[in-house]
Formats: sequence, structure tokens, C-alpha cells
Amino acid sequence: MDIRLTDEEEARIIEFRHDMHMHPELSHREFRTTGNIKAFLSSLEGIEILELPKKTTGVVARLAGGKPGCEIALRADIDAICQTEDNDLPWKSREEGIMHACGHDFHTAGLLGAAMILSRNRDAVPGTVDFLFQEAEETTDGAREMIDAGIFEVIHPAAFFGEHNRPEVPVGKVVCKNGALMAAKTNFVIRIFGRGGHGSMPHLCVDPIVASAAIVQSLQTIVSRNTDPLESVVLSVGSIHGGSIENLVVDKVEMTASIRALSIEARERAVRRMETVVSSTAEAYECRAEIEYREILPLTFNSEDMYRVAVRAAEAAVGSENVIDVPPTLASEDFSVFMEKVPSFFYWIGSGTPGETAYAWHQSRFKADDAGLKVAAEVMAAACFAFAER
Ligand code: NI
Repeated sequence: MDIRLTDEEEARIIEFRHDMHMHPELSHREFRTTGNIKAFLSSLEGIEILELPKKTTGVVARLAGGKPGCEIALRADIDAICQTEDNDLPWKSREEGIMHACGHDFHTAGLLGAAMILSRNRDAVPGTVDFLFQEAEETTDGAREMIDAGIFEVIHPAAFFGEHNRPEVPVGKVVCKNGALMAAKTNFVIRIFGRGGHGSMPHLCVDPIVASAAIVQSLQTIVSRNTDPLESVVLSVGSIHGGSIENLVVDKVEMTASIRALSIEARERAVRRMETVVSSTAEAYECRAEIEYREILPLTFNSEDMYRVAVRAAEAAVGSENVIDVPPTLASEDFSVFMEKVPSFFYWIGSGTPGETAYAWHQSRFKADDAGLKVAAEVMAAACFAFAER
């Protein structure tokens, strides 16, 4: 078996990637993208597209290997974000205000590359390989949507592998992290209710703006005073809305906020403290508070067992000298939803061009170097063999 991507195969996924990059689609609307993925997969020997009980904008496909073994799933995400591309590329986004600024085009093309390698080597492939092209990672509800659509009625993987580009890591390197890789996240809305009236008679009103100012300040103490200094927690109020003109006391203020942490315990502690700070501070200012939870994501965490398998696969693809460790980030990733259900591993694939500024995920000048696609493909293909040999 040869897990190397051939030059022709590499050219095919680069071409696919450039076309996908020019035509980015937002979460839940990845129709063109999905059509092209299905067409590409259908051109490969031994790969069958699977139907889920309920429709989604993702794609699930299967390859039956020629050797006995278990079932393994490989996952890529496929959606873009609202961003205007500020790169001067021949294959720059053609869609106004939409861009593959997180490199999900890179992941999709990489997984198609893995599908080509595995299809060509299918007689040597142990067990079954499932290919999962997941919609709506950016809105972080795509993984749950696929589960609700019945993905686990159709596939029964013993392990999941996923990957993400990392512009700060140079092309050719693969990051294998043992433990927490990306943050658990809780997004929420805080509403503070007071009693409106004329600004000249504050004693007859209850001002939620003053209470909100105190809440924003007090929330800052959760990280500085209630969190173990050796833990990583971010608590941010991202927006605050209330009021219209200077001489009216308003009835209501609404804020959106987020808590991120690299451990579930630290996240839960911060959430409980946030609830107390919000309700008690509101009460101190004679207001009423309401908290609505909007988005809750698990931790992206690589277990030691899966780490060992993943390192072997990465070494097979790029050599042990190119398998590295870097600090985690407090960004989050909805692959973590699959991680809660099935033993899983999440890679970062180096996608930075040496000598160029590495613009981070979601920036208008974000780039992921095409040269990393070959690595992305080979690591995923190698993971199937490494898991079978564990
Ligand atoms: Ni992403």
C-alpha cells in the first residue's frame, strides 16, 4: 500500500479547493459544495454515498476495505463565514461578503485526497472507512444536526479523526496534542429589566443601564478572583444594547456574552459564578435579570489512547521530526460533539507559508497554503491504518 498522494491526485484536490474557495457558502446553505463533493466521491472506485434518515446539507460516504477490521470515520467541515476576502489570489472568493476564512475548503479537499488514497488502496484497507463532510461548523450546530438526522443509525465508527488547518504552523508540520486542544464554550444572553421613565425623575425609575455597567465590571472578577490561575478561562461581554436618547430611563438592557475554558470544571465554575454575579448585582440595583443559554460546546480533548494512534499516523505521513506539539487555543470546534460520543482525535495541519505573515482564522487576509493539502490527505489516510494496527 502507498499512502502518498500522487501528483495527479494532488492537482485534482488543489483544483477542487480553488473552485470551492471561489464559491463559498454559508452554514446550512452548502448546496453547490455538497453537489461537488458527491460528484467527486462518485468518481472514485469503491466509494458509496450514504443517505441519512433526515436530509442535511452535509455528505456521508463509505468505503468498504478489502481486509477485516473495524469502522473508522474521517471528518471535514465544509462551510464558510461572513467575511470579505482581502487576498490577491486568482482563486479569490467570488461571493461578496462570504469567504472560506477558516479554511474549511482546505479540510474538504484534504479529505477528498484521503478518499482517493484509500480508494486506490482499498484492497489493503482494514474494515470500513466513513467520510463525513459536515455542514455548519461555523454556527456550531452542524455536528448535532447530523446526529439528529440519524448519522449514527447509518454509520457505527469505533473512532473518529478530524483535522483543521493552522496558519501559525508552517506547512509540512502536523500538530498532535495530548489532552485539551480547544475550548469548551458557553454563549449566552443576559437581559436586565428595570423600570423606564423620564430622566429628570430617576427616583421613580429603575435604571438597567447602571446595573448593567456594574454587571460588566463584576463579571471581570470571575477570571481574576474565582479561577485557578493555572487554568485558562475567557469571559467576555461581546455586545450591550439598551436605551435611545439621553433623557429617558430605559426598561431593558440586553448583552451577549461568552465563557470559554480548557477544562469542563473551570467552565462550570465560571458559569455558576456568572449566574450569581448577574442575579445578585441586578438585585442590588433593584433590577431583574434573565439569562438565556444559546450555544454550548464540549471541550475538544484528545485522549492519551487516541493520541498514541494519531502520532503514529502523522509520523507515517510526515516523519517524526515534523510531528510537533503547540499550546492549545481557546477557540472552539464542534467536532467536540462527536468526540463526546466516539473515541476521537483532532489534528492541526500546518498551513502557513514560511516567510509570510500568518493571518489567523476568520481574518480577511487568512490563507491556508495549498502545499498543506497533501499532508492533510495523507495524515487522514494513514490514521485508518494506524487505528487498525493499534
Ligand atoms: Ni474552522
